[in-house]
Amino acid sequence: MALFGFGKSASPEGRQVPRHIAVTMDGNGRWAKKRGLPRSAGHAVGAETFRTIATYCKDIGVQYFTVYAFSTENWTRPKEEVDALMDLFRKYLREAVETMAARGVAVRILGDLTPLPEDIRALIQEAAEIADTLGSSAATASLCINYGGRDEIKNAVRQIAGQVQAGLLDPSEITEDTISGALYTAHLPDPDLIIRPSGEIRLSNFLLWQSAYAEYYFTPVLWPDFTVKDLEDAITDFNRRSRRFGGVK
Ligand code: FPP
Repeated sequence: MALFGFGKSASPEGRQVPRHIAVTMDGNGRWAKKRGLPRSAGHAVGAETFRTIATYCKDIGVQYFTVYAFSTENWTRPKEEVDALMDLFRKYLREAVETMAARGVAVRILGDLTPLPEDIRALIQEAAEIADTLGSSAATASLCINYGGRDEIKNAVRQIAGQVQAGLLDPSEITEDTISGALYTAHLPDPDLIIRPSGEIRLSNFLLWQSAYAEYYFTPVLWPDFTVKDLEDAITDFNRRSRRFGGVK
């Protein structure tokens, strides 16, 4: 995929809709704590928010929507929280993938899937098969699971080094596109807008290579409370930005 998509498409109202929006779904734990609920309850509501926002994105013409659902570091959380998240992935992959496909949204999973339980890997494969049946007008919603930006770049370097070692590639032929093409996101354009809810202002290892020219939007709203109005506010802010990609306008 080209590095620079100048990723906007004009909506009927004349505003520019980002081609690819990514979100760190943060604040689920605090949302639950405020209500005296277990952290898993925050993740469950966060999963519903994902469905609402992903479907809304499709309806307004966002072609790609990518969320950070489980990081390579999240395994260190208490076992019951990790188990609850795995159960949510199971439930979601069984129920929501087909519903979303019917609404024209292809759900795909990105990340190092090898450490995931076998039944979840089988469900991910089924989701990919459903996604493959959708036509080119479908939007893509990607869930990053066991994903880490550094881990992704390390794997890409290993893959490219293997090609060099096998004599298939000369080091002088390695371009930025070679690296982009070896990432989990090879089939996606770079994100235009990355939203981080919950008041945290950091990247947390999300889409490190791909975010080179992304616009960031930070909001104190916790992810389970995030609404289409919050998404619209982020898009309005995005429309005020002057994207120069290192050049002059
Ligand atoms: C970060 O908030 C969130 C996560 C580590 C998990 C996000 C996962 C979901 C919302 C479930 C998505 C699942 C599907 C199937 C769509 P946090 O727990 O770090 O919150 P805190 O910072 O308030 O503690």
